Amino acid sequence: MSETLLTQDAEGVRTLTFNRPEKKNAFTHAMYEAATEALFRASLDPAVRVVVLTGAGGTFTAGNDIGDFLEQPPTGEDSSVFRFLRALVNYEKPVLAAVDGAAVGIGTTMLLHCDYVVATERTRFVMPFINLGVCPEGASSLLLPRNGGMALASELLMFGDPFDAATALRAGIINRVVPEAQLQEVASERARTLAAKPVEALKVTKRLLREPLRAEVNGALRREGAEFLKRLHSDEAREAFMAFMSRKGK
Ligand code: COA
Repeated sequence: MSETLLTQDAEGVRTLTFNRPEKKNAFTHAMYEAATEALFRASLDPAVRVVVLTGAGGTFTAGNDIGDFLEQPPTGEDSSVFRFLRALVNYEKPVLAAVDGAAVGIGTTMLLHCDYVVATERTRFVMPFINLGVCPEGASSLLLPRNGGMALASELLMFGDPFDAATALRAGIINRVVPEAQLQEVASERARTLAAKPVEALKVTKRLLREPLRAEVNGALRREGAEFLKRLHSDEAREAFMAFMSRKGK
């Protein structure tokens, strides 16, 4: 296991913690790879009944590392970010997320593929793709209109402004909002409760819920991925990434 992805087991629950707090847990290639590998291992381990995703240092994740986007952008469907998304989208066991601080880009869109999401009142969500000159990913262009309606989906994806936990609830991204002091306790209780359910029945239930949309979700991932890869090389995107990297003189 890598330092940037911590693993902890308790009572049938495997918690995966994004751990790069000095960079707000922004995802590097290595982190996507570690997370994909960790999901795979958890899927094979009969002692793991439920997976929890969370972030260290009071942040879920600031999304894709922008330096990586500039220096070693994903090149195709087999790139680490897309492999991670496919692993999560097609995951058989229940996945919970405990979200605090910032949930940026894929930090928000990955929640659409989790089965139960608890977030703190102070969490700020944002899908800033438009402002970065890129486009929606994570099947958000398909699932957000379904979950919360076209009006809200268009607003969130076309303006790219940060939004609060109440809006995330309305958008169908999260299940529950709690004060930050209760996040870990509530997430653990929900995860342990799910871990105590009949394990095969839970898998079947998840499959029945997700299966009808799976082909469409995978199709959306491919469509978005193809556009995203093109956008990454656009002047609009490169200017936006350079602007982020050069703020504060970096
Ligand atoms: N990629 C690379 N570095 C990132 C990052 C990212 N996505 N997000 C944050 N960081 C780095 C910052 O550059 C900073 O590094 P430094 O300490 O070397 O200067 C450090 O993490 C802390 O971030 P900072 O912006 O100072 O924290 P903040 O609390 O003021 O703001 C965010 C937090 C998440 C709101 C802000 O960092 C942000 O908007 N990040 C960019 C998110 C983004 O656009 N992601 C891509 C989505 S596709």
